[in-house]
Amino acid sequence: MQLRNVSPDDVDAYVRMRCDPVMMTDLGGPLPCKGMADKVRRDAQQAAADLAWFKMIVPDPTSPDVVAGTVTIWSHDTEDGAISEIGWMVLPEFQGQGLGRRAVRALLEQARDQDRWGVVPAFPASNNAASNGICRSVGFRFVSEVDVTFAGQVLKSNHWVIAPWTDLA
Ligand SMILES: CC(C)(COP(=O)(O)OP(=O)(O)OC[C@H]1O[C@@H](n2cnc3c(N)ncnc32)[C@H](O)[C@@H]1OP(=O)(O)O)[C@@H](O)C(=O)NCCC(=O)NCCS
Repeated sequence: MQLRNVSPDDVDAYVRMRCDPVMMTDLGGPLPCKGMADKVRRDAQQAAADLAWFKMIVPDPTSPDVVAGTVTIWSHDTEDGAISEIGWMVLPEFQGQGLGRRAVRALLEQARDQDRWGVVPAFPASNNAASNGICRSVGFRFVSEVDVTFAGQVLKSNHWVIAPWTDLA
């Protein structure tokens, strides 16, 4: 498994993840496909400038065009101040193989090694067993249940945090 920066050519993978009703069940439903190419271009620019870590998960480095999903760390403002949050998605044909866990761990190892981002929160949907499984298995600490607003909808989520320099399991 390898992680590489998102590129403008990753539109198909973004559409399969973000515009699909099943993939987006716990994230408030599918996003409109219109504008997804612009979103990928913006993410690719931010990744290239190292302003955020938007990574594609490449399961087999000998087939670099085949991607299994994404793992990202990005900073944004909240009511409680700026945070650097981690999020992830794995396409259906690659789920249940430990790829999500390994990709999240690999990105947090980079954060630890580069002393970047500080304490990193994650907000998986409360009922998303696999995403909460990733948090538990990688070494996140559970904080509380919270309401998270995503794409204009309020989602019941679990707030987890990890300090990569001490907590990585
Ligand atoms: C959630 C998602 C990222 C999980 O990725 P994945 O690669 O399938 O997960 P993994 O195989 O790495 O499994 C992660 C952990 O959860 C556990 N797990 C997986 N499915 C589970 C389930 N249904 N119930 C309980 N635990 C589960 C695994 O056993 C593993 O824990 P372990 O390391 O202790 O064995 C992926 O299913 C996905 O993208 N789903 C759709 C979109 C989504 O839900 N995104 C996240 C929004 S919060």
